[in-house]
Amino acid sequence: MIPRVHLHAATAASAPHHQHMPAWQRQVIVAAVVVAALLLATAAMAQSSGGKTATAALIERGRYVVTIAGCNDCHTPGYAVSGGQVPEQHWLIGDRLGWRGPWGTTYPVNLRHYMQQISEAEWLEVSGSKVSRPPMPWFTLQRMSRQDRRAVYHFIRTLGPAGPPAPDFVPPEREPVGPVVRFPEPPPQH
Ligand code: HEC
Repeated sequence: MIPRVHLHAATAASAPHHQHMPAWQRQVIVAAVVVAALLLATAAMAQSSGGKTATAALIERGRYVVTIAGCNDCHTPGYAVSGGQVPEQHWLIGDRLGWRGPWGTTYPVNLRHYMQQISEAEWLEVSGSKVSRPPMPWFTLQRMSRQDRRAVYHFIRTLGPAGPPAPDFVPPEREPVGPVVRFPEPPPQH
């Protein structure tokens, strides 16, 4: 009963209004709607092109951060020993050179595949909290600003997947196959 009354009231209120609206008024409304739609479309375009610029800047920042943070030193074969003379297309593919110490033997992971397999949110979580085995400087990564870690993620992702996966971690009691950098036992503490 009540809804019907409401419906009636609504119809009664709007119908005559509509019927008596002059043609010019309707045209003004149509024009206003078109203008609003155009404005929205322009705003959306401006936003997406602004997004593109931001991404290009973010990627450039990532290239810079990766370079100065030394990620290539371990994650790019031959980088440190060649004085950084490795073309960018071969960066961060991981290495078969193991790092052996009391923790076992670790291999710098292939970051070109790694970043393809996780979302930005997952990367922010991992890079902000995960403790890796030596000599990965996870403590440095954790101190990097969120924005720089985002930049690193997007830069490495843009490089695309490349190279074979790095060998698996070898526990301390097992002999690794292939070359290793050997960490000596720490000197005795007094
Ligand atoms: C001194 C050598 C070294 C440097 C420098 C280095 N890494 Fe690593 N990284 C490693 C090793 C070795 C591992 C494998 C660790 C393990 O097996 O726990 C690793 C693992 C990782 C992982 C995998 C973490 C996980 O367990 O999921 C990420 C991501 C990573 N490194 C990113 C970086 C970034 C980004 C930089 C530059 C800021 C960097 N690394 C610099 C040696 C290095």
